[in-house]
Amino acid sequence: MKRTPLIAGNWKMNTTVSEACSLARAILTGIESADGVEKVICPPFVSLAPLYEILAASPIKLAAQNMYFRPKGAFTGEVSASMIKPFCSYVILGHSERRQIFGESNEIINSKIIAAFEAGLKPILCLGESLEQRKAGKAVDTVTGQLLNCLVNVRQTSELVIAYEPVWAIGTGVNAAIEEVCQIMEALRAALAGMYGTGTGDEIRLLYGGSVTAENTASYLSQPVIDGALVGGASLDSNQFTTIIKLAAAVKNT
Ligand code: PGA
Repeated sequence: MKRTPLIAGNWKMNTTVSEACSLARAILTGIESADGVEKVICPPFVSLAPLYEILAASPIKLAAQNMYFRPKGAFTGEVSASMIKPFCSYVILGHSERRQIFGESNEIINSKIIAAFEAGLKPILCLGESLEQRKAGKAVDTVTGQLLNCLVNVRQTSELVIAYEPVWAIGTGVNAAIEEVCQIMEALRAALAGMYGTGTGDEIRLLYGGSVTAENTASYLSQPVIDGALVGGASLDSNQFTTIIKLAAAVKNT
């Protein structure tokens, strides 16, 4: 099945509003056409509205980096799906920094995925094993377990995106070996086929994330099992991020 490649830039807790506007403009200028690749920027919440104005007539879509699953109420500091929906197509859920630093469980992430779909947002669900889990030979079991638990009672799947991001590869400069990533992607694809049936499971895009750079993008994306990348640090550099997008277009559309 042909899946549209997707490159998403996760800016994390970086950029003031004015820095975010400058970076978005630089990316917009730099991407030229890069047709055939879906392009997504994930800025901090406060920059979603201003970037929406800047990117409205452009091919770049916006994602939030998180949201809460309740629709509204006394949840100080939280932001709901309906608050981000006017600006965003996507929302990152279950990023390992949310799991590790803020204690998010698979159950919470599952509730967020259901709430995101109900609001018309497309979740980018992040999964990944720790170094200890990998060393213990538990990478596949950990990641497929996260997948099953995060998708309990999730029936809507065509718009779901999965990002496999080994925890030890995030922000470390130690990107995962291609063969290891492919092994996990194949296990995820098989698990999705088991849950949703081959045709439905096949629509879901599988991204790799973890120290993706302009130098290593092509080697990941030349693998048919890898549909795109979730890019952290390198997405804060407009030259590098636009190079990654152009490489994705070249590798996937040949
Ligand atoms: P990194 O981050 O590219 O800086 O490793 C990826 C991510 O956390 O999504």
